[in-house]
Amino acid sequence: MRKSVGIFLAIFFVLQFNHVRSTSSEQPYRTAFHFQPPQNWMNDPNGPMYYNGVYHLFYQYNPYGPLFANQMYWAHSVSHDLINWTPLDLAIAPTESFDINSCWSGSATILHGNKPVMLYTGIDSENRQVQNLAVPGNLSDPYLREWVKYPGNPIINLPDGIQNDDFRDPTTAWLEDDGKWRILVGSQKNKMGIAFIYQSEDFVNWTKYDSPLHQVADTGIWECPDFFPVSVDSTKGVDTSVINGVVKHVLKVGLFDYARDYYMIGNYSPVKENYVPQNELNLGTLRLDYGKYYASKSFFDPVKNRRILLAWVNESDSEADDIAKGWSGLQSFPRSVWLDRNQKQLVQWPIEEIETLHENKVSLHDKKLESGSIQEVLGVTAYQVDVKISFRISNLEEAEELDLSLSDPQLICSGNNASNKGKFGPFGLLALASSDLTEQTAVFFRVYKNNGRYVVLMCSDQGRSSTRNGLDKTTYGAFVDIDPQQDEISLRTLIDHSIVESFGGGGKTCITARVYPAMAIGEEARLYAFNNGTQSVVISELSAWSMKKAQINVQETISCTDQ
Ligand code: FRU
Repeated sequence: MRKSVGIFLAIFFVLQFNHVRSTSSEQPYRTAFHFQPPQNWMNDPNGPMYYNGVYHLFYQYNPYGPLFANQMYWAHSVSHDLINWTPLDLAIAPTESFDINSCWSGSATILHGNKPVMLYTGIDSENRQVQNLAVPGNLSDPYLREWVKYPGNPIINLPDGIQNDDFRDPTTAWLEDDGKWRILVGSQKNKMGIAFIYQSEDFVNWTKYDSPLHQVADTGIWECPDFFPVSVDSTKGVDTSVINGVVKHVLKVGLFDYARDYYMIGNYSPVKENYVPQNELNLGTLRLDYGKYYASKSFFDPVKNRRILLAWVNESDSEADDIAKGWSGLQSFPRSVWLDRNQKQLVQWPIEEIETLHENKVSLHDKKLESGSIQEVLGVTAYQVDVKISFRISNLEEAEELDLSLSDPQLICSGNNASNKGKFGPFGLLALASSDLTEQTAVFFRVYKNNGRYVVLMCSDQGRSSTRNGLDKTTYGAFVDIDPQQDEISLRTLIDHSIVESFGGGGKTCITARVYPAMAIGEEARLYAFNNGTQSVVISELSAWSMKKAQINVQETISCTDQ
């Protein structure tokens, strides 16, 4: 009797608790179209893949609470459109001596005969990082719910001379003409960031290649490396194993010491087993996103021949806030990624499926924004919106000079917030703004002259994003490699309750921010275009769509017909 009362009370409390959690006024920061679990801690995307009609996303998850834990799991969701996601049971749990202390990040590879396999890092019973293999328990289950660990794990042990906790995050494997699969594993030695390369003919026996694919001194451990080809003459993606004259290779690494994802573009030779980047990695070089965006992973989508990129977007609030919310961590909106025509950088753009969530389009054309003016974007749900805006400016020769020798773009942005008048700029968007503008997340541009060329700076200023204290309100900034004499200056921003994900210059520069307004919540949120420069600018085009709410990890049972 007592026991059943106890169970009743437990169920009652869980229901109450979940009810509170799901009330939007109690949970103003939960998103409508960014991937997140119903509760608890999530970090890196793991093993994204397309298999037999279904997209899979696994992710680093602590099923027991909203903070990172010493025992991490792989959670698993599936989707038919990369927009709506169904949660499944946990896929990989820390149960064996080779992963008892955590199942950390890893990647999927589709082997010959259409067989998906997973490589992941285990933290073993001695707290060493080792690489493990898992395969689907039942290939005829369309959702691949069961994952079986290879009994001979670990398949790769810690290399000599590498510390226990410096060896992780295997990539998707690629296959070369010599019949050998290759993977990278991230590491470090004396602060030298390293991407080790391993080769295998059977996916079980792996040999470390003598020299790493790449390494850079003083960058600290490289986490979640990603290595993939990009076409030099097409925006289409290619499979990870493609090597030919018309691809270059991207090596992306997460610098743990800075929580930033950097990448290089270069030439890979499988015969010499070497990689020659065009740009060497340093703290000032190319990043996938200049805001909060880490541990990204890409995969090739054979359905639409594109490469898709996902990343962990961490919170900017405190641990106490996360405990109060009961959750922590988002995934970025999936992006298509390709090589820019200039072959010097990547371009990223929200996947086209986003349009299935669009409703109630509003637009504006050829609207002049005088110095100091704002224009409200009316008729959209400003807390949940996809907005594209492009600006035209004239008399550019009057632009201010920028001393590029001083110029860490993030510092220029933080020294010049959105109320700091320049000549050309700041102009852009005020996202998640309160009607009195006390709260606003300003995403904007400034245009400068330097040595007879024009320089476009993009900033995301979180300084006034919330009247709440105790939040990380760092301002982010980066240059956008466009020529404002020829190109309009464009911005696309995905605004989703507590995330502001921005794409400048058609996706050449991306900046993602997490914000927690106290006033600009739900129907109270406003969206504006603004110009605070002394020169007027023209909005040549603005389109904004209210976004419908996607079905993301809403608990539901999968019907028998799906089985
Ligand atoms: C990156 C990372 C990975 C590791 C995982 C653990 O955020 O630290 O290197 O595998 O997260 O959750």
